[in-house]
Order: sequence, then structure tokens, then C-alpha cells
Amino acid sequence: MKNFCWIALLAVPGVLSNPRCRCLYDDPCWPNDNEFSQLQSKLSQQLISPVPPESACYPASNPSGNCTDVELNAVNGRWRSDQAGSMQSPNFETFIFPNGTIEACFLNTSLGFPCDQGNVPPIGVDARTIEDIQTAVVFAAKHDLRLVVKNTGHDYLGRSSARGAFMIWTHHLKNITYNSNFVPEGASESETYNALTLQSGVQWFEAYDAAQANGRMIVGGLSPGGSVGAAGGWVSGGGHSSFAPRHGLGVDNVIQFTMMVASGEHLTANTHINSDLFWAVRGGGGGTYGILTSVTYRTHEITPLIGIFFSSNFSSPAVGREVISEFVKFCPKLPDLEWGGWTSLSSATINSIIVAPNASWADVNATIDPFFNLLRNASADTITSTIPFDGFSSWYQAVFPEPEGEVGANIEIASRLIPQELFEDSEHLVEVLLSLPNGIGLNHVGGGKVSRTDPDSAGLNPAWRKALIHAVLGGGWPEGATVDEIRTVQQQIRDELSVLENLVPGGDSYFNEASLYEPNPQHTFFGDHYERLESIKDKYDPLGLFIVAEGVGSERWDSSLNCLLY
Ligand SMILES: Cc1cc2nc3c(=O)[nH]c(=O)nc-3n(C[C@H](O)[C@H](O)[C@H](O)COP(=O)(O)OP(=O)(O)OC[C@H]3O[C@@H](n4cnc5c(N)ncnc54)[C@H](O)[C@@H]3O)c2cc1C
Ligand SMILES: *[C@@H]1O[C@H](CO)[C@@H](O)[C@H](O)[C@H]1NC(C)=O
Ligand SMILES: *[C@@H]1O[C@H](CO)[C@@H](O)[C@H](O)[C@H]1NC(C)=O
Ligand SMILES: *[C@@H]1O[C@H](CO)[C@@H](O)[C@H](O)[C@H]1NC(C)=O
Ligand SMILES: *[C@@H]1O[C@H](CO)[C@@H](O)[C@H](O)[C@H]1NC(C)=O
Ligand SMILES: *[C@@H]1O[C@H](CO)[C@@H](O)[C@H](O)[C@H]1NC(C)=O
Ligand SMILES: *[C@@H]1O[C@H](CO)[C@@H](O)[C@H](O)[C@H]1NC(C)=O
Ligand SMILES: *[C@@H]1O[C@H](CO)[C@@H](O)[C@H](O)[C@H]1NC(C)=O
Ligand SMILES: *[C@@H]1O[C@H](CO)[C@@H](O)[C@H](O)[C@H]1NC(C)=O
Repeated sequence: MKNFCWIALLAVPGVLSNPRCRCLYDDPCWPNDNEFSQLQSKLSQQLISPVPPESACYPASNPSGNCTDVELNAVNGRWRSDQAGSMQSPNFETFIFPNGTIEACFLNTSLGFPCDQGNVPPIGVDARTIEDIQTAVVFAAKHDLRLVVKNTGHDYLGRSSARGAFMIWTHHLKNITYNSNFVPEGASESETYNALTLQSGVQWFEAYDAAQANGRMIVGGLSPGGSVGAAGGWVSGGGHSSFAPRHGLGVDNVIQFTMMVASGEHLTANTHINSDLFWAVRGGGGGTYGILTSVTYRTHEITPLIGIFFSSNFSSPAVGREVISEFVKFCPKLPDLEWGGWTSLSSATINSIIVAPNASWADVNATIDPFFNLLRNASADTITSTIPFDGFSSWYQAVFPEPEGEVGANIEIASRLIPQELFEDSEHLVEVLLSLPNGIGLNHVGGGKVSRTDPDSAGLNPAWRKALIHAVLGGGWPEGATVDEIRTVQQQIRDELSVLENLVPGGDSYFNEASLYEPNPQHTFFGDHYERLESIKDKYDPLGLFIVAEGVGSERWDSSLNCLLY
């Protein structure tokens, strides 16, 4: 099919010499002042001019803004998400030209670099109404702009920024509606759900508070400050949680959503209406089919739970090997018990936070004590505990007492879904985990309800249904690093990813927490759902307004994602 298109294009003179390219800021085709003022007249808010937040510190001799504020909040996810021009990882505010020149704005002014716009879109719409989104989408389509849909800016592949682009910022769409008898559009009156509807700017901390205020809990992302978006990229990519083994992934908890598509139509999608779109958006990737305006989730009963915490620095590599071996053997039991959580480990250390929903304290102790004994025996530097909580909220506050952390650093990551079956020969798995020089993070988010859900019920990569663990590694660099230093770190991440690739040949990865350098992203992120996802994308976005790195349809564009290849 693709080859056929190539041949067809080759036959049309001029098509290849004049590829279709997006209109970027500073290009002659960029809308003029008059066109922007016409756009302005239709919007509820002033157009915004996003800048890297660090620009407040420049010029160093006489800062243009409140630099203290930026310094104090640089690692605060909520603060970063409140700034239109801020990404959670500042490297995605940065642009590196093919020749290696870096355009950025560094917080540390002493480094002596100028402050540049880099990868931050220079103009955008601060959407507060559905009409704002509609107006902005129609404008971007009409002028063939490079469009960036930004919610919180958490994306680990920099999909919420692009140089010279036009931004639609969903952050201020904050409405939340609880309905204990929600009936999806097009459903019979008897099909009711206890549901929470979140507009697309709502973040997990707000969704959790709203669920709790209504005596319910909701499956969501887990990070300091709860700043990840609850109804944007997280759910479109899959949405994992420590509660997924009990309640399913984010995509499995969606009842309905509303979305603005490229034509400017505002659609409702669920299993009854626009069911193809409903299928695709649940796992087929953010920024690809249109702009979500709301997501309606099932809520769940609040139950007490037991928090399981352990941490150890191994007294010797041999002890480390023994502990990791036992731990890896224990991993498949977690989802059978509906336990989830996350672990970081290396040959020198293990740190883990696990949650056992609605379990008895005595049962949890009995299950974990043999491993705890081994761990305490392994090293004097060991902490183990099991702690009862009355519900999700108190556990969440205990695990993330501070809003700061996990963001604000220059990082790239890479990942693989580790299938259940690999745990049958756990010795090999242990060798591979121990061979990673910088350790690895294991998210205990697969199995249980995730595996019991029909792989074809959502566009999500079917590999998720066979996975036990989502494993993530990464690396970072200080600001001011040279392009060679950055490329060395990127190469090291690629090398470590190839170790995981050898562990799971032809393996799969999670769209939202992954590498920018996947050689075969269509397979790696979507498996055999790719073709159906692509045809649904073509139906709702025939001209390719919504394109993101490694997303469905992105392979038709060049590496800048600005020019169509075929
Ligand atoms: C600190 C931290 C913790 C994390 N924890 C978890 C976790 O517990 N579980 C998990 O699964 N993932 C987690 N992630 C990964 C997270 O799912 C992704 O970063 C995801 O892309 C965030 O979506 P967002 O809408 O908040 O961010 P953004 O960066 O604003 O958007 C991400 C992508 O979605 C698109 N998008 C945003 N809003 C919309 C919309 N309304 N309609 C259509 N497309 C949209 C954007 O264009 C972009 O492509 C975490 C990330 C970070 C940085
Ligand atoms: C600058 O930010 C700091 C820290 O957030 C705050 O305390 C201070 O009041 C701000 N200064 C001004 C002039 O707004
Ligand atoms: C690299 O390319 C950019 C953009 O074309 C240009 O502005 C810059 O001067 C170049 N740098 C070097 C060192 O050639
Ligand atoms: C800022 O950069 C200077 C010059 O490289 C360095 O000496 C200093 O330690 C840096 N400051 C911080 C806070 O990193
Ligand atoms: C916003 O939320 C309120 C309260 O839940 C609800 O009554 C209202 O209809 C919502 N508005 C929109 C635009 O969704
Ligand atoms: C929690 O566990 C108790 C005891 O096993 C059980 O009776 C109850 O149904 C469970 N509640 C939920 C919501 O799973
Ligand atoms: C569980 O174990 C902890 C110590 O590890 C202990 O303090 C607690 O009393 C135990 N709980 C039950 C119910 O046995
Ligand atoms: C604890 O360590 C000792 C000596 O290394 C060993 O003999 C014993 O079997 C270990 N106990 C457990 C529970 O691993
Ligand atoms: C393990 O070592 C690190 C770094 O030295 C230290 O911060 C941590 O407290 C140690 N952990 C335990 C459980 O002793």
C-alpha cells in the first residue's frame, strides 16, 4: 500500500520537489497580524506567547521576571504545569539543530549562554471553553500550522512542544462532574455507572480530591503533587497505575469521552456512538486523533489498604543476586493478590513501594515475611514495613508527602513491557537486570485485571494484556552539557535498551514512557492494532493535523514532523 503511494507520487511532477511542509513561525506563510486579530476576536482569552519559564532570570544583571520563583519551583510538577511554556523535563524546551547547535534557556545564568525560545511554541490559545478549542483547531488546520496540544507538559518524548508551532493549551479546562448514575449517550437508561467526568485540563491531584469528596476512588497516575494530566496524554497512551492489577488500566476505566476533531466537530464517543474513535483513543496515543475535551471514568469503592515498603543496600553482590532472584520469583504473585506498585533495583540496592488493596494486615504480613526475613538477613542497611491505611487518599499522602520531585531535570528514558512468561525462566531475567549498570525501574502494573481484559476491547497495544511489568531505564545530563555529552548519554540509553530488546526480542513498549529512538515504533507501541488505528486516524484526521513523535501516522512525516514524506 505504501509502496503504491510512492509510485503514484513519483508520477506527479513536482510533488517530490515540493513536499507539503507545515507552516512554521517566521515562514512567509505564517498567519499575519490581521489573521491573528481575527482569531483573537473569537477567543474567550488573550492569545498567549509561551516562553521557557527560565527566561524570567534573564538578563542576569536585571531579571525580566521573578527568578526566585522559578528557582524555588523548578522541580515542582504543579508549578511547571501552570506555565504555558514549561515542560516537566526542561530538555524538551530545548532545540538541538542537526549541526549540534543548542538553543535553550538555562536556569543557571552563570553558564553564560543566551536565553532562547528553543522548542517552545511562540504563540498559543489558552483554551477555557469548547468553542476556544474549536476555533483554534479550525485556525491551525486552515493555515496548516504545526500544531501542539499541550496539557501538563509531562510527555517523556517531548510531544507537547515543537519549535515554531502553534499551541493549544488545555490546562485551564478544569470542570469536574460527579454522577452516581451516569448514563452514556446512546445507551439505555438502565446502563448506569458511578462516574466522574473530567475536562481535559484536570490533573490527578484534582481528580483524586473530587473522587474522595464523593466517597469514591479512581484509578490514576502516581507522582509527587499528582500533576500528571487525568484526561489527556496519560489515558490516551494507556494510563498505568498501582491499582491497575485490581481495577484495570486507565483505558479500561473510561466510559465515554468527548473530543474535538480536525473538522471542528465536537464528538461524543463511547461503545454506542463513534465506537471506532472510542476504541482508538483508548491506547492509540495522545495528540493523534483530535483534542479530548473530557473523559468520563468509572469510580470505585474506597477500601482500606496495606502499604508495603522496603529498601536495602546489599552487603555484597552475591547477596544482591540472591535478593533480586527471590524478588523476581515473587513478582508474578503480586497481581494475583491484586497488589501493584513500583520498584527500583540494581546490583547494589532495591527500593520498593507496593500496595495491597482491601487486604488483611495479617495476610499481607504472612505473604511478605519470608522475603522480608531474607532482606533483613542480606544487609544491615534494610528497612521493611507494612502499614495499614484507611483508603487511597491517606496512602497517597503518605507516599508523596511533598509536591516536589521527579521533574525538572534533563532526562530521556527507554522501556519494555516484560511479559509474564519471562518470569518462568527467572534466572535469565535476573542476569539481565543485574547487568544494567544504572539499574532499572519496574512498574508492577500488569497482570490481574489488566490481563483478564479482552486485548481487542481497546486500541491499546495487546502486549499490555500479557505483560507483568513495565520496565523503565533512563539517563540525564546537567544543563549546559555539550551536544557531545548529551549524545553520549543518549547512546548509553540506547545501549541499555538493546539489552532489554535482547531479553524480549521484538518486544513492546508503553507509548507514554519510552524512547525517542525506537526503530519500529508502529509495532513496538501498537502491535497488531496498528493498521486499524491508522485507518481510524485517517477517518477522523484525513490531513494529518495531529502528529506526534512515534505516534500513529507519524512515519509519513520527516524526522522534524514538519514535512510529509509521501
Ligand atoms: C513525574 C511523572 C509521573 C508519571 N507517572 C505516570 C503514571 O503513574 N502512570 C502512567 O501511565 N504514566 C505516567 N507518566 C507518564 C505520562 O502518562 C505521560 O507523560 C503523559 O504523556 C502525560 O500526559 P499529559 O496530558 O499530562 O501531558 P502532556 O505532555 O501535556 O501531553 C502528552 C501528550 O498527550 C497529548 N495530549 C495532551 N492533552 C490532550 C488532549 N486533551 N487531547 C489529545 N491529546 C492530548 C499531547 O499532545 C502530548 O502528545 C508520568 C510522567 C511523569 C513526568
Ligand atoms: C517572587 O517569588 C517568590 C517565591 O515564590 C515570592 O515569595 C515573592 O513574593 C515573589 N516576588 C514578587 C515581586 O512577586
Ligand atoms: C547550526 O545551524 C543553525 C541553523 O541553521 C545556525 O543558526 C547555526 O549558526 C549553525 N551553527 C554552526 C556552528 O554551524
Ligand atoms: C552554575 O554554573 C556555574 C558555572 O558553570 C557553576 O559553577 C555553578 O555551580 C552552577 N550552579 C548551580 C546551582 O548548578
Ligand atoms: C461544570 O461542572 C458543573 C458541576 O459539576 C456542571 O453543573 C456543569 O454543567 C459543568 N459545565 C461544563 C461546561 O461541563
Ligand atoms: C473487601 O474485602 C472484604 C473481605 O474479604 C470483602 O467482603 C469485600 O467485599 C471486599 N470489598 C471490595 C470492595 O472488594
Ligand atoms: C504485621 O507486621 C508488623 C511488623 O512487621 C507488625 O508490627 C504488625 O503488628 C503485624 N500486623 C499483624 C496484624 O500481624
Ligand atoms: C541468613 O544468613 C545466614 C548466614 O549468611 C544463613 O545461614 C541463613 O540461612 C540466612 N537466613 C535467611 C532467612 O535467609
Ligand atoms: C542506602 O544507601 C543510600 C546512599 O548511601 C542511603 O541514602 C540510604 O538511606 C540507604 N538505605 C538504607 C535502607 O539503609
